[in-house]
Amino acid sequence: MRAMPSRVHMWRSAARSLRWFACDADPAGLLQTQRLGLPLNQPDASMRLLIVWHSRTGMAKQMSEALLKGAQKARSEMEASETDLAIHICRARDAQIHDLISAHGYLFCAPENLASMSGEMKEFFDRCYYGALGKLNGRPFALAVCGGSDGEGAARQISRICQGWRLKSVTAPLILRNGAQTPEAVAAAKTLDTHGAEKCMDLGGLMAAHMLLGVP
Ligand SMILES: Cc1cc2nc3c(=O)[nH]c(=O)nc-3n(C[C@H](O)[C@H](O)[C@H](O)COP(=O)(O)O)c2cc1C
Repeated sequence: MRAMPSRVHMWRSAARSLRWFACDADPAGLLQTQRLGLPLNQPDASMRLLIVWHSRTGMAKQMSEALLKGAQKARSEMEASETDLAIHICRARDAQIHDLISAHGYLFCAPENLASMSGEMKEFFDRCYYGALGKLNGRPFALAVCGGSDGEGAARQISRICQGWRLKSVTAPLILRNGAQTPEAVAAAKTLDTHGAEKCMDLGGLMAAHMLLGVP
């Protein structure tokens, strides 16, 4: 006579088939809204601004740092604290759907590569688009893009994706150009000049002020 399966055994096999089902239904984790790995290191706050960036030769990285600095400066000038507005900066490859959903405003910053946004930035949007779809409606965003001689293609693409998410644009995309066109100039490490840094700080400040003032 065959032994009756124990309750533990039954539960274990039910859980196993559920896990199999979950994997089969979403093998790429496109709808995974729980944060995997460590939580973002940020305080409890009534509002969160998320800066997502990618950079290959350093310019967009410095731009995103200036965005952060500008947002922090505006926050302190408006006598607001980290619990009023937490500002988090995250490289595109590390940003997850959960980070988008738990934020209330967004700054996206990336270079243009081959007339498109850079690959890592695109991968972030591909990975997070459907999991965040319908969950970000009406939240504010702004873009900062850098290019050698252009940048419009990347700005257009990111704007289109944000439109799909039903985000609300706070201002026109900021596009900075460094003139790099030869292979050597494109490959070289970039330094953001003072004028560019000020523009990024202004954009970061505008975004923070917009969120703190609760502009509809
Ligand atoms: C593979 C590659 C493709 C590029 N394609 C473009 C382009 O289509 N249009 C443009 O204006 N600049 C282009 N650039 C130049 C970069 O956008 C520019 O140097 C930018 O400032 C780099 O930003 P980063 O330092 O943050 O990587 C390209 C650079 C690379 C590496």
